[in-house]
Amino acid sequence: MLRMKDGMGALGRILKTIENYKGVVNHLETRPSKTEGILFDVLINVNMSRANLLLLIRALRQSSSFVGVNLLTENNLSAKDPWFPRHASDLDSCNHLLTKYEPELDMNHPGFADKDYRERRKTIAEIAFAYKYGDPIPYIEYTESENQTWSRVYNTVLDLMPKHACIEYRRAFALLQADKIFVTERIPQLEEMSSFLRKHTGFTLRPAAGLLTSRDFLASLAFRIFQSTQYVRHGNSPYHTPEPDCIHELLGHMPLLADPGFAQFSQEIGLASLGASDSEIEKLSTVYWFTVEFGLCKENTQVKAYGAALLSSYGELLHAISDKPELRPFDPATTSVQPYQDQEYQPIYYVAESFEDAKDKFRRWVSTMSRPFEVRFNPHTERVEVLDSVSSLETLVTQLNTELLHLNNALNKIKAKRFC
Ligand SMILES: [Fe+2]
Repeated sequence: MLRMKDGMGALGRILKTIENYKGVVNHLETRPSKTEGILFDVLINVNMSRANLLLLIRALRQSSSFVGVNLLTENNLSAKDPWFPRHASDLDSCNHLLTKYEPELDMNHPGFADKDYRERRKTIAEIAFAYKYGDPIPYIEYTESENQTWSRVYNTVLDLMPKHACIEYRRAFALLQADKIFVTERIPQLEEMSSFLRKHTGFTLRPAAGLLTSRDFLASLAFRIFQSTQYVRHGNSPYHTPEPDCIHELLGHMPLLADPGFAQFSQEIGLASLGASDSEIEKLSTVYWFTVEFGLCKENTQVKAYGAALLSSYGELLHAISDKPELRPFDPATTSVQPYQDQEYQPIYYVAESFEDAKDKFRRWVSTMSRPFEVRFNPHTERVEVLDSVSSLETLVTQLNTELLHLNNALNKIKAKRFC
């Protein structure tokens, strides 16, 4: 039972979300609500798996601010059973979209009135929905006009990067140019980018059909997997896109995912999100917003950008380094509750001393969260292990002892060399 605060406008989006979660609507009825502040009550009878129903409930809760939906009944499902992906293949179930910015549903989207563009988006989205763990990422034959849109944005990044991007970004960018993945004329394929990242930090990519729910998106980071869109923004609006597109992902996110310190920071945000409550997910995605998307950091005496939304957007980057916005030191406890703008430039940015410093502060803050267990990622099995029993800790201790032994041996050998 859903309560619609703002009329029936959001119902189409809700039904699409149910479909995305592979639900079948058996029955739907609406009536004017008797509750003050609520326009309609909607009864929807759906047939779907229990796991997907839990995910749907979470997604509806997350999107309630814009679709105006409150959940009346949930059969006590979500409180008892905090499902989260345990293996990288479970991410096949974590591809649920926030439909707020879809060109078909958002009248302000630059592609809303362009039928061909909407068809193109649909075709590429289908590829992402059909993708399964272990598949190679399908090749997209980008059109000439899509490649031109890329060239225009790429050239602005080439202009601004030397002066305003952090050293970690510039270093990885140079490697991507040397490997001929970043060239002016064509959009890189996700598969070649995924291989590049795997070589440097173990991160890989999987295609996403659009803007995912925060829970699904953050969960993938725990596995060092970044869910990346493959479609291109509308050609009439090369410097602005209301939702992430592959130009934003490739130019904004990918270089830093090739940096070991940043990759670790991203994964830690992901690990913290597994089994977290809805309000904690909201806080984590706000931290993600002000760091991975819009973060600034210190480099000697200067402030540089490391946020993907800054590095892939000419206008906002110039705004961020101007004297207009307020710059505050990064502090997860306050950053995580700071309201943010997703329609205009940010009035506030947070500045980290370094990635190491950001990680330290983040770890200390995460340890105060409510989750009653700890998790770690095992890269050999691509599995998240829950450290909630003595036997799981014993395995970890054995592994740590082996690592310490290697460390000790290496130190002894270095010392021996010095005195030779
Ligand atoms: Fe992004």
